[in-house]
Amino acid sequence: MYPIINLLKDMKNRNVLLIGLLVLSTLTIAQKFEGLAPTPPMGWNSWNKFACDVSETLIKETADAMVASGLKDAGYEYIVIDDCWQIGRDSLGFIVADPERFPSGIKALADYIHSKGLKFGIYSCAGDQTCGGRPGSRGYEYQDALMYAKWGVDYLKYDWCFTEHLNAQGAYTTMSKAIRQAGRPIVFSLCEWGDNKPWLWAQEVGHLWRTTGDIHNCYDCVYSHGTWTAWGAMQILDKQDGLRQYAGPGTWNDPDMLQVGNGMPNNEERAHFTMWAMLAAPLMAGNDLRDMSQETLNVLGNKEVIAVNQDSLGIQGFRHEVKDSIETWLKPLSNGKWALTLLNRGKINKTVTMNWDDFSVTDPLHADRTLSTAGKGYSINNLWTKEELKFKRKSYQTVFTVPGRDVVLLQFTPKR
Ligand code: GLA
Repeated sequence: MYPIINLLKDMKNRNVLLIGLLVLSTLTIAQKFEGLAPTPPMGWNSWNKFACDVSETLIKETADAMVASGLKDAGYEYIVIDDCWQIGRDSLGFIVADPERFPSGIKALADYIHSKGLKFGIYSCAGDQTCGGRPGSRGYEYQDALMYAKWGVDYLKYDWCFTEHLNAQGAYTTMSKAIRQAGRPIVFSLCEWGDNKPWLWAQEVGHLWRTTGDIHNCYDCVYSHGTWTAWGAMQILDKQDGLRQYAGPGTWNDPDMLQVGNGMPNNEERAHFTMWAMLAAPLMAGNDLRDMSQETLNVLGNKEVIAVNQDSLGIQGFRHEVKDSIETWLKPLSNGKWALTLLNRGKINKTVTMNWDDFSVTDPLHADRTLSTAGKGYSINNLWTKEELKFKRKSYQTVFTVPGRDVVLLQFTPKR
């Protein structure tokens, strides 16, 4: 008979071996690719406007429009196909794109996008199915990551439908490791809606994480889809409270993609875009780039507002004060600069008087960053009207009219 003592020894050896293998695997397969998102990712995603109506023609024309409109030059980089590009798996389990909508295949599409100097993104889901009912990556993570690497994917948005009994941190870590193993640097975008507080654990796993449920195409509304709820831009803004400490270079809070150009009036889309800039949010346009008004293009393409978003410090802005319908937001920028937004959440125009002689604010998270305007140490520029503020000799104040559902966005630049 096999002596009990040997059995115990064997078990001990096996445990030691298992622990050794585990340690080795975490050492050899480092976590996410670093350095891919030093500033919030910028690009375009098909979902908000087109939902499941995606095709290679749409994606190619969007890439063309990204370049022709000047948005590529303004910093937009990733073209991401969201849900519904997949149709099934082949006999070996490899993911297959819908051949009717993508007749040339995904590799050819990625090549086309790269030939325009842009980067290519794709979508999958941690569950058995995607939210649109297409095949998910559960159980196929390494195989899918290999395929993405082979196709030349640069960005993966990874959703959270049909994930019964899955642990979020575990599931997203599995895909992060699979990407790493496949060897191609891919920005990893967690789309888990904030359900499991990804800001507490996803720093090592991905580059950005959704903080809320889906954005609805409105400034201020709550929309019920029956079993789930979508949120207006202002509702999403409020849900970012308490999260700014988790954002920074390589690790971004994602309040969802932009609805700019999808029908909101120009003042509302300007306010929505400004607040996403203040939040250091990823800027993923979600409209039809082939057919947008000059007004929408002026919003999406305002390079000074984009520079507030893309500032190298990567500090997410904060709400400093609320008075009636006016919120004052601040965002410290590099080289001692600051951005300040007066956001009017109401529908009625408001007059706001800023007395610069006694205006001083310290970032509650960064005690060494203070904006103090007494002493006239800054030039102040309005980034939407593109004017510099001028002052009469004895009056160091500005009276602003902030139209309903609109913003005034100022940048403070230290004078030399
Ligand atoms: C979820 C996501 C959306 C989108 C859809 C696709 O709702 O949160 O952003 O990707 O799935 O089905």
